[in-house]
Amino acid sequence: MKLLFLGPPGAGKGTQAAIVSERYGIPQISTGAILREAMKAGTSVGLRAKEYVDQGQLVPDEVMIELVRDRIAQPDCEGGFILDGFPRTVAQAEALGEFCELDVIFNLTIQDEAIVKRLSGRRVCGDCGATYHTSRLGGRLNCEQCGGALILRKDDAPETVLNRLAVYHKQTAPLEAYYEATGKMTALDGALALDEGVRHIANVLENVR
Ligand code: AP5
Repeated sequence: MKLLFLGPPGAGKGTQAAIVSERYGIPQISTGAILREAMKAGTSVGLRAKEYVDQGQLVPDEVMIELVRDRIAQPDCEGGFILDGFPRTVAQAEALGEFCELDVIFNLTIQDEAIVKRLSGRRVCGDCGATYHTSRLGGRLNCEQCGGALILRKDDAPETVLNRLAVYHKQTAPLEAYYEATGKMTALDGALALDEGVRHIANVLENVR
């Protein structure tokens, strides 16, 4: 199964992709997470990406396309994978189409106001990247999975979130029409309670496997 989670920042792509990854045993390929790892490690890709990510801008297409092409070629992707955060431009989608045929595209939708609220409350584990929301943390400051400290992502600062939203509407939203034309896209309300979203995804995937 080759899946894509499309949608604005904070729609829940990463959260849903992580659940599907665990349930179906296929890797989640989060380009945002890969870039954050590269920035932390100080690799050449990381150093190049940092100036864009910190401002909420998109990293150049050629960097992202090569990164995903290499990742998908890894043996753990032979049985399928979940793309989370790629493609983000029509040029990326066209390049992806040359080396991969997707089975289902989940298009997560949510209002901008809800996104700002969600992202200001998001906390991520600085060690393993697990994602939480302050409303469900009950004051806990450490990761449930590895004990690492929970932090606010630099690009979740309110002014950067607004920038990311503007970038989404201008550069990524056109992908909805692009993938609608394939007949493989299904809408998913990103504002649904998590378990309802998970049920909806499972129903769609029943017909794919
Ligand atoms: P990336 O990490 O992909 O950021 P993003 O798309 O902005 O996605 P987010 O991680 O913010 O949101 P999400 O939809 O995954 O939401 P989440 O599940 O965490 O990319 C970061 C940067 O890297 C980009 O800005 C760009 O610079 C660069 N980049 C990455 N890919 C690129 C590409 N292809 N091309 C160019 N540049 C690229 O959920 C958010 C919060 O809501 C969490 O707290 C979660 O707990 C909560 N939540 C989730 N679902 C629900 C629910 N149903 N109900 C209640 N709360 C929920």
